[in-house]
Amino acid sequence: MPIQREPWAEPYKIKMVEPITMTTRQQREAALKEAGYNTFLLHSDDVYIDLLTDSGTSAMSDRQWAGMMLGDEAYAGSRNFYHLEEAVQKYYGYKHLIPTHQGRGAENLISRILIKPGDVVPGNMYFTTTRAHQELAGGSFADIIVDEAHDAKSTFPFKGNVDLKKLQALIDKHGAKKIPYVSIATTVNMAGGQPISLQNLKDLRALTKKHGIRIIHDMTRVAENAYMIKQLEKGQENRNVADIVLEICSLTDGATMSAKKDALVNIGGFLATNEWDVFEEARNQVVLYEGLHTYGGLAGRDMEAMAIGIGESVGEDHIRARVGQVLYLGNKLIEAGIPIVLPIGTHGVFLDAKAFLPHVPQTAYPAQALAAELYLDSGVRTMERGVVSAGRNKETGEDYMPELELVRLTVPRRVYTQAHMDVVAASVLRVYENHKNITGLKMVYEPKYLRFFQARFEKI
Ligand code: F0G
Repeated sequence: MPIQREPWAEPYKIKMVEPITMTTRQQREAALKEAGYNTFLLHSDDVYIDLLTDSGTSAMSDRQWAGMMLGDEAYAGSRNFYHLEEAVQKYYGYKHLIPTHQGRGAENLISRILIKPGDVVPGNMYFTTTRAHQELAGGSFADIIVDEAHDAKSTFPFKGNVDLKKLQALIDKHGAKKIPYVSIATTVNMAGGQPISLQNLKDLRALTKKHGIRIIHDMTRVAENAYMIKQLEKGQENRNVADIVLEICSLTDGATMSAKKDALVNIGGFLATNEWDVFEEARNQVVLYEGLHTYGGLAGRDMEAMAIGIGESVGEDHIRARVGQVLYLGNKLIEAGIPIVLPIGTHGVFLDAKAFLPHVPQTAYPAQALAAELYLDSGVRTMERGVVSAGRNKETGEDYMPELELVRLTVPRRVYTQAHMDVVAASVLRVYENHKNITGLKMVYEPKYLRFFQARFEKI
């Protein structure tokens, strides 16, 4: 990770504030019990600093708020849809746009359209909702990310890269016809917010082209990935992030977007494609699941805020400060000797729960227990990304046992200051000092789908 020697400051000033309250340990104990030791089930009023997710939690700019007032709430053909279409074409280069209420709406559509029962969908590690929709459509996910991505301690800079040999082996085994597309995320959330390199994506494009296989791009955090390419990849250091974003997109055939991350809105997403046939089918299906093809479950004002947010998301000052704040928190924890996933991710810092709580077996949900403990200590809310998130194999019913058992400290964009990051770091340190006294959990309620959202636990 390059060391930033010059101090940097947020490229904005604060125009409006939202007070947050602190709770007592006693209150937090009661709230945590009530929530079944699942941070997703806490009331946000009981949270002090909310690092649950960077999804839909960003602060919009004054320009985005002004855009909200320009909402054209016509049922069909809203002017805001055309602004959004323009932004997607200009900044991402994709030809056709289908708005959706959020990322998983787009994942549902593309999975239904492209995946047939028995198909295999290779990807650079799974994401929870993405894989769930691939499986619901009858496909099975195959992990083709480089081995380094599964090793929290490896400092390989591009842990989002695809291992092309793994993909070739899948093609040899199943045949290219069984692989409707390769699913590529920029950055890879479950690996700890790790980027894929431009070179790897180019090599992947060459291989998939040879076999007539599409690349569908999960572009949720593409600007953050482009920023890391600029920082770390030889020959890319003098380019604009906006240029790199365009090039990444140009190497793929279509994309699903959760605009709640990079694009700085509280709700929204889209499916984009360069293929007319896929577009036509998506335009057909979107009316069943989301809404008409010119709003896809969104208000006109939401589409306007998204169109403006997309432009802001690729600004050099913005992205440097956004990732810079995450690096600031991560470096503080590294200096204090806390085990975190290396390199530091772009949207959050991921604690290595296996190393943090070596005495808690993975069957006792160490990351879930650690997230609960952090909340108890300071009211900082984080999220489990380990065995609970991984869920069960749909064939065998067995728990997936991921190598990575992580707690994600996810930083919303433009919301907290460095002083908040200092408070978070201090809390992690306190919990670490006391780590020997932390015990595991048992699951007492398990929902059928995406269990991490609503599962309930008790202390062992
Ligand atoms: N892909 C990635 C890489 C994501 O991180 C998310 C959401 C989605 C797709 C789905 O998008 O939530 O708009 O339906 N990630 C959130 C998170 C939930 O906290 O990481 P969505």
